Amino acid sequence: LHASLHLDPARVVAPVSRRTFGSFVEHMGRCVYGGIYEPAHPSAGADGFRQDVLALVRELGVSVVRYPGGNFVSGYRWEDGVGPVSERPVRRDLAWHSLETNEVGIDEFMRWAALAGVEVMYALNLGTRGVQEALDVHEYLTFPGGTALSDRRGGKPYGISMFCLGNEMDGPWQTGHKTASAYGRLAAETARALRSADPGIELIACGSSNSSMPTFGAWEATVLEIAYDTVDSISAHAYYEPVDGDLASFLASAVDMDHFIDSVAATADSVGARRKSPKRINISFDEWNVWYHSRFMAEPQTEWTTAPRLIEDAYNVADAVVVGSLLIALLRHSDRVTAACQAQLVNVIAPIRAEPDGPAWRQTIFHPYALTSRLAAGTVLDVVVDAPLYETDRYGPVPVIDAVATLDEGLSIFAVNRSLTDSTELTFSTAAFPGAWRAGEAWLVSDADLTATNTQAAPDRVVPRPLDVSLDGDAVTAVLPPVSWSAIRLT
Ligand code: AHR
Repeated sequence: LHASLHLDPARVVAPVSRRTFGSFVEHMGRCVYGGIYEPAHPSAGADGFRQDVLALVRELGVSVVRYPGGNFVSGYRWEDGVGPVSERPVRRDLAWHSLETNEVGIDEFMRWAALAGVEVMYALNLGTRGVQEALDVHEYLTFPGGTALSDRRGGKPYGISMFCLGNEMDGPWQTGHKTASAYGRLAAETARALRSADPGIELIACGSSNSSMPTFGAWEATVLEIAYDTVDSISAHAYYEPVDGDLASFLASAVDMDHFIDSVAATADSVGARRKSPKRINISFDEWNVWYHSRFMAEPQTEWTTAPRLIEDAYNVADAVVVGSLLIALLRHSDRVTAACQAQLVNVIAPIRAEPDGPAWRQTIFHPYALTSRLAAGTVLDVVVDAPLYETDRYGPVPVIDAVATLDEGLSIFAVNRSLTDSTELTFSTAAFPGAWRAGEAWLVSDADLTATNTQAAPDRVVPRPLDVSLDGDAVTAVLPPVSWSAIRLT
């Protein structure tokens, strides 16, 4: 097959937002306990954090981490996680049918975040709690001192400016699930109170848990009708898996993500238009990934234990290609998606796996994320793709190639070949970009065995390999194997 890209420096979408490369640490399964935190591990520092995991988090290139949940947050009492560890209560976590020891709370997590060099996006509990508790935790986290809660924290205030007004409140599974109008009111009331404490705060209202929710669209419209003036963004969450082995549709998951983002933006804009508001609501895509959700649903958690092994999906090559393609979709929408968090960071549907008293390693999906985070810089350019179509059951005909580019002092192109069968010769011209370009670096994630995974025994079974790129004057050519993700950096 053959495909061409049309690149034009004038087709600027927006600056690359570092917050596109976010992640998520939830008190769920072994993400916190046995993930970022394992005091008995040989690599743990005095604070109990695994240094091997920290090194991989830094290598992944994560900018912002959402915390502490997720479904967990909707039953969480933040006060349980502060003060002397020995006095902290053990609680039931209804979301994940687990026991929470509260050994790690917000102060410990902020120490970890400083070590990892990441910003924190803090999620408030609007499931079982409300305005007062949101104000209290905000005061604890951000007030300089001289009040009961800020003095209880001690030390400097934490630099947290982004707060989620609850989590997935549209989902019947959510503790404290609400109707759109009940949630919209609570979100608006909480936002108004928080804003009077801090006018510069960035607030994210809950959007839909996924685009197949029966209330999708109507939920966003109702919530924003009520909370438009008080929030900055609305959230979107999406997880993808091959349904009934339909790999062709799975590889086209970015079609759904594009449509999801465009639909939420259109809904928000229509509310804004009705209100004659000059303000634009952005999108925080604060949970996205490949998740074999059907496997999780088939194995309900019955025991009450601490940090059980939950949804530790082992990712293969096809999953990595899909993750790369979802990053392309997110970057392409940088004018609207101002933050995005891959869910989650360690062990729980994660790019990083860690075994107790054992090694930590990179899953296949680590690689497209780390390369995109490292190579995407400057401004995002929209790319016109001219590629053959392939048929999918879910989305109809879909171009085999998808791509996006970023331009700083170099030019980075990220592309996927979604064909299950054919290599695609990809060409593009640099004629519109002044200067003499040469191939800087180029990487390929692909494998003859699409089911290959990285394991404890073979942690580097799937790694990016150098991609051959040829430059002939302005013409650039690379051959992308079937089911592959690639990054090309010209300098
Ligand atoms: O990331 C796992 C879970 O998926 C989160 O807790 C929840 O918000 C979503 O449904």
